[in-house]
Amino acid sequence: MDILIIGMGYVGTTTGLVFAQQGHHVTGLDIDQQKIASLQSGNLYFYEPGLQEMLSTHIKNHTITFTCDAEAAIKNHDVIFITVGTPSLNSGKADLTYIKQAAEMIGRYKNEEKIVVIKSTVPIGTTDELEEWIALSSKDTSPVHMTMNPEFLREGNALKDALYPSRIVIGSQSDTAIHKLKELYKDVSSPVLVTSTKAAEMIKYASNAFLATKISFINEMARLCDKAGVPIQDVAKGMGLDERIGSPFLNSGLGYGGSCFPKDVKELIASAEEIGSPLHILQRVEEVNQTQSTYFMSKVKSKFPRLKGKRVAIFGLSFKPNTDDTRESVAFRMLEQFVQEEAKIFVHDPAVNLSTDWVKKGVTQCWDPYITVKEADLLVICTEWPQYTQLDWKRVKGNMGNPYLFDGRNMLIGEEMKKLGFYYRGIGSDCIDH
Ligand code: UDX
Repeated sequence: MDILIIGMGYVGTTTGLVFAQQGHHVTGLDIDQQKIASLQSGNLYFYEPGLQEMLSTHIKNHTITFTCDAEAAIKNHDVIFITVGTPSLNSGKADLTYIKQAAEMIGRYKNEEKIVVIKSTVPIGTTDELEEWIALSSKDTSPVHMTMNPEFLREGNALKDALYPSRIVIGSQSDTAIHKLKELYKDVSSPVLVTSTKAAEMIKYASNAFLATKISFINEMARLCDKAGVPIQDVAKGMGLDERIGSPFLNSGLGYGGSCFPKDVKELIASAEEIGSPLHILQRVEEVNQTQSTYFMSKVKSKFPRLKGKRVAIFGLSFKPNTDDTRESVAFRMLEQFVQEEAKIFVHDPAVNLSTDWVKKGVTQCWDPYITVKEADLLVICTEWPQYTQLDWKRVKGNMGNPYLFDGRNMLIGEEMKKLGFYYRGIGSDCIDH
């Protein structure tokens, strides 16, 4: 199938490459010439395991091409995916500027019947509105078959999630579109759910909101466990063994970040409020998430009431491992608190380049974890990059000035760290000693 994808961001590029991998011919369209030039020359401008190799292969095979020429791209394709961003406005509502731009572009250049598929996460009712926006900017009256086909892939795991999705949701009133999408996904052995456009939109928000709820639930339980003297890891394990609950998304830590959960939770809360059906549970989910980093900071402060001049080492800046994405990363909330306290900060992350703004604030980036901790008074883990578990922790301790270790992701085994002579604090297991 010949497919056009509008929006060569993270989701669009990954989706395009996966379609190419499945044997389709893909054209990636974006108004950002730099992005297009980079992709066209075979350079993936973000980090995602396995994707760079895939891009090189498909460019070489001409199974994917990239363009800024909207007119030609839209005229030549009858299946058009929209994967542009829907960031948060200050009100919490989703900003639909890019979606509207894509609709106007399709309307302007549409010359025949089209199937338009939204993959971006959009508020309930947007897919129907999009049809009107396309019609308003179009002279052509041939039908547009609107479809909502939400994307569930996780950064850092995108290829696996896109190649083997847990489910394929097709929201459409058009038999033509449903038939075409079923054909597109015919080699993917995942359950397919055909539903209305609004239900498909809601499924995406409700899924992200539920996963965020699991995280805030376990984080609040972890706070209780700290007080009650119970290790949260055992509690999460015991809960997760119940298949009605399941073990994923029960890792307590500094809270959720990234480009989806924070924005989607905010959008759902804001639109539910607007519709007159406030989501009380979700409001608390957000509150727990907002306060989790200050909760963890209070553990640091209980040992270091004054941080001015203290050498602080931080491991991990990305919002989660295996990505260089720092959007809404809780690590930066921690960083900001240490900057406010005038600590001397040294950070390490395997993939993230610290921006000059932070360097100007006095934060130093190191590329070697052992150097990052040199003479440090305390070490704080903000992102659970797997390579941190492989470190020689005896050497880490030897390099530190004082062996204070605050594990914001519960990634290390506290008892082992204590045996090595560290003062160790995680989240939800403070009971073990005091
Ligand atoms: C999420 C959804 O999982 C995905 O289906 C959707 O398409 C996009 O949003 P992503 O943001 O890439 O994916 O990452 P995810 O693995 O879900 O993690 C989100 C945040 O939750 C991260 O900050 C992570 O550290 C945190 N998290 C996750 C926890 O704190 N505990 C957990 O147990 C799991």
